Amino acid sequence: MLAVAGPLTGEAQLIITNALTPPTPPPMPTPPPMPPLPIATPPAIALQPPAPPAPPAPQNLDLVLAWDATAKQVTVTNGTPEAHYTFSLTNISSGDVTINSAVGSCGCTVARLPVQPWLLGAGSNGQINVTMNLAGKSGTVPKTVTVSTDKGVKMLTVTTTILPPAAPPAPAMAMDRESNQKLALADRQAVFKGDCARCHAAPAAGKLGVELYQAVCGVCHEANPRASMVSDLHAIKEPTNAEFWKNWITQGKPGTLMPAFAQAQGGILSDEQIGSLVIYLTAAIPSRPAPPVLKPPTGPN
Ligand code: HEC
Ligand code: HEC
Repeated sequence: MLAVAGPLTGEAQLIITNALTPPTPPPMPTPPPMPPLPIATPPAIALQPPAPPAPPAPQNLDLVLAWDATAKQVTVTNGTPEAHYTFSLTNISSGDVTINSAVGSCGCTVARLPVQPWLLGAGSNGQINVTMNLAGKSGTVPKTVTVSTDKGVKMLTVTTTILPPAAPPAPAMAMDRESNQKLALADRQAVFKGDCARCHAAPAAGKLGVELYQAVCGVCHEANPRASMVSDLHAIKEPTNAEFWKNWITQGKPGTLMPAFAQAQGGILSDEQIGSLVIYLTAAIPSRPAPPVLKPPTGPN
């Protein structure tokens, strides 16, 4: 009986021991990972609140004036004299706002108020026009305009990007020109395909007459310098007439760089467009008189 009681007691003790032992080891491993997390989080929470309280002053003006944007960008080509910006603002408060001034950060940036000072009643809106003079400027030009009101100050930003002059691409174009000529020699209709179409086909869209000539014919025939194998259309030796122009435009000339423009021949121009070119060219480039080949009387000299 004792022997039985012994093991029972032993089991009971083991159960008690097991129940007691688990609690002890867990506390040991858990503490190490736990502390770093709590320590890391509190400071983050502590840092976030102080940040918002900082800009309460600007927020007040933001509750008064609503802007379509407070920063605007414009990209212009090289040589553009001025960049223009318009900022729209609305008084979203229930009282008046007086805009006393709008001043650019340089002499080159001038902001214009409708009147000065400018009283903007509750709910009303208007515009501030900003002009940036680009003389002597290049690249990206950021400027600010400080708008001063009786309710606070607002900073607007205008950034003008001036594209570089078109000069640098010249050497690249020269290389392209040579390889384009090779491509066109292999297939004179190549000009209407792929990337070539961007310059040689797309500009024809919706155009007629002189505009069409400048867009699709002039690119080769009026090029400066004109490639040696491209004819000077203002110095054609043989007599010309409507039929001459129509045939050249419609069919071009196989084995040369002169493509066939008629849609029926794989070209890009409609009959109406070809007709308009024929009318234009017949008038603009008068035919030369036939060369005096039929003058037998000169023989007996
Ligand atoms: C970025 C516009 C542009 C693209 C793209 C373009 N061309 Fe041209 N192409 C021109 C201009 C401009 C000329 C007039 C000559 C010059 O100024 O280089 C020309 C002239 C030509 C000429 C007449 C020969 C000469 O050198 O004047 C041929 C042929 C020609 N291009 C074929 C092609 C082919 C083929 C492609 C496509 C692989 C192509 N082009 C793509 C603008 C372009
Ligand atoms: C891709 C360049 C290119 C384009 C675009 C182009 N031409 Fe041509 N054209 C040529 C070349 C090259 C020749 C010379 C063909 C030859 O060797 O006989 C030529 C020749 C001509 C001729 C014959 C001139 C002569 O001396 O007898 C006429 C006319 C003509 N083109 C009109 C046009 C008209 C009109 C257009 C526009 C619809 C046009 N070309 C567009 C390259 C072009």
